[in-house]
Amino acid sequence: MVLVESVYSVLGDAAPLAELLEVCRAHGAVLLVDEAHGIGVTGDQGQGSAAALRIAADPQVVLTLTLSKSLASQGGAVLGSPEVRDHLVNTARPFIYDTGLAPAAAGAALAALGVLREHPELAAAVRHNSALLADACGVDAPAGAVLSVAMPGPHEALAAVATAAQHGIRIGCFRPPSTPDGTSRLRLTAHADHHPHDDLAGACLLLKELTRG
Ligand SMILES: Cc1ncc(COP(=O)(O)O)c(C=O)c1O
Repeated sequence: MVLVESVYSVLGDAAPLAELLEVCRAHGAVLLVDEAHGIGVTGDQGQGSAAALRIAADPQVVLTLTLSKSLASQGGAVLGSPEVRDHLVNTARPFIYDTGLAPAAAGAALAALGVLREHPELAAAVRHNSALLADACGVDAPAGAVLSVAMPGPHEALAAVATAAQHGIRIGCFRPPSTPDGTSRLRLTAHADHHPHDDLAGACLLLKELTRG
């Protein structure tokens, strides 16, 4: 089994899914794709990377996705062949011995999917906004909503987070000891509904200052 994220949650880059599936086919392996950062964000309809590449229904592909990111709810799903689903329903201990998804969470995720169906342009909007933020930070545009900016050290990273917070911008931060030494990073998440002038213009100016010294 080959396990990948369609969009990596730390660096925001994309896995080469079509090429990986070719390798999996050659070796009889299953390709398990975590679409946590793909669903609602990648593909022209926000359908996720595997569906956009038309490999989601491939019998050798299994998808996992969370309802907690673009769908703004809680819980997750496994999308696979009837055999995979049957196997999990009968043998996956975390599934069998856990409480089922709360109806409110399932309902919220379903409603969010309805919004995405009605407004598929939201997926392109979030990628457009993440590209603008990435440009301001001097890094490549990410594949999805999350972008990562390397910082010289944990102190610089924390100082940037604090300054941004004072300006109403919330930034995540990866730093030792939860990451290896020398790998402090800011982690920004773009939304589809940032206002181009009221939100993004100011944020881009500030990020330019914070990330480029
Ligand atoms: C790549 C990836 N997969 C899965 C998850 C799990 O998300 P949750 O526990 O909110 O369903 C996350 C959450 O951060 C993630 O980044």
